[in-house]
Amino acid sequence: MGMSESTNPKSSPADQEKSPSSLGAAIDQAVALVMPSWAWVPIRSLAPRHRSRIAAHLTELDERDRYLRFGYPATDAQIAKYVDTLDFERDEVFGIFNRRLQLIAMAHLANAPAPRPDERPTMAEFGASVLSRARGRGYGERLFEHAVLHARNRGVETLLIHALSENIAMLKIARKAGAVVEREGSETEARLKLPPVTIATRVGELMEEQAAEIDYQFKVQANRVNEFLEALTEVKTNINGKAPVASE
Ligand SMILES: CC(C)(COP(=O)(O)OP(=O)(O)OC[C@H]1O[C@@H](n2cnc3c(N)ncnc32)[C@H](O)[C@@H]1OP(=O)(O)O)[C@@H](O)C(=O)NCCC(=O)NCCS
Repeated sequence: MGMSESTNPKSSPADQEKSPSSLGAAIDQAVALVMPSWAWVPIRSLAPRHRSRIAAHLTELDERDRYLRFGYPATDAQIAKYVDTLDFERDEVFGIFNRRLQLIAMAHLANAPAPRPDERPTMAEFGASVLSRARGRGYGERLFEHAVLHARNRGVETLLIHALSENIAMLKIARKAGAVVEREGSETEARLKLPPVTIATRVGELMEEQAAEIDYQFKVQANRVNEFLEALTEVKTNINGKAPVASE
């Protein structure tokens, strides 16, 4: 039998929003949505061209993390299949890149089939992973908040998290957001009811997308400059190594 518990939904940040009466107020609320008390973290939407980076991220997870993420200790081949079948049109896949453009954290927001073919999905499932070396910095929570914002803006009413009951970190994130958590033995389901879309959530997502894109392009440029400098250093080393000496 399931054990039901929930945190006070009144305390969830989403519920603390008031209807903005002006664009200025909406922008203030949007800023509060995407930049809460801690430093801003660029979260970027991922596309089919990121498949190899997603695979690199997931295969870096050890056996226990794969078990927590997928509900079974996925092999490299199973991860490859999962990555190949990611549907970037139907679902939202997003992540956090470090300076070297390694994907250090990512999430998959999978839309459940809509109640009717002509309707939009009303439920989406959240799954995430953060590389062990990047944990405890709030990235997991930020990915979840990003998912909430994205889902609200698309009319999703319920966010679902299937987690193993032992997954303290994931369930903490869900509870903190106000999810109703139901434990069924070794598995736990958390459901978060989402408030409807507002101008602030729309502006918030737009701001976050733009800022994350700028951050990503900076990193791309910085990496190109680094690669160029490395190539230059290599060429110089080769020239110095092979350079004819004066006596030759
Ligand atoms: C779950 C996971 C995504 C959390 O990522 P994270 O970036 O470390 O999480 P955060 O830093 O945002 O921490 C969220 C909360 O959990 C707490 N927490 C993190 N790791 C914890 C741990 N091992 N034990 C207890 N609490 C933990 C944090 O202290 C924080 O609580 P606080 O807000 O009260 O301080 C990450 O641990 C992970 O990738 N695990 C393996 C895969 C997985 O379990 N995926 C989820 C399945 S859907």
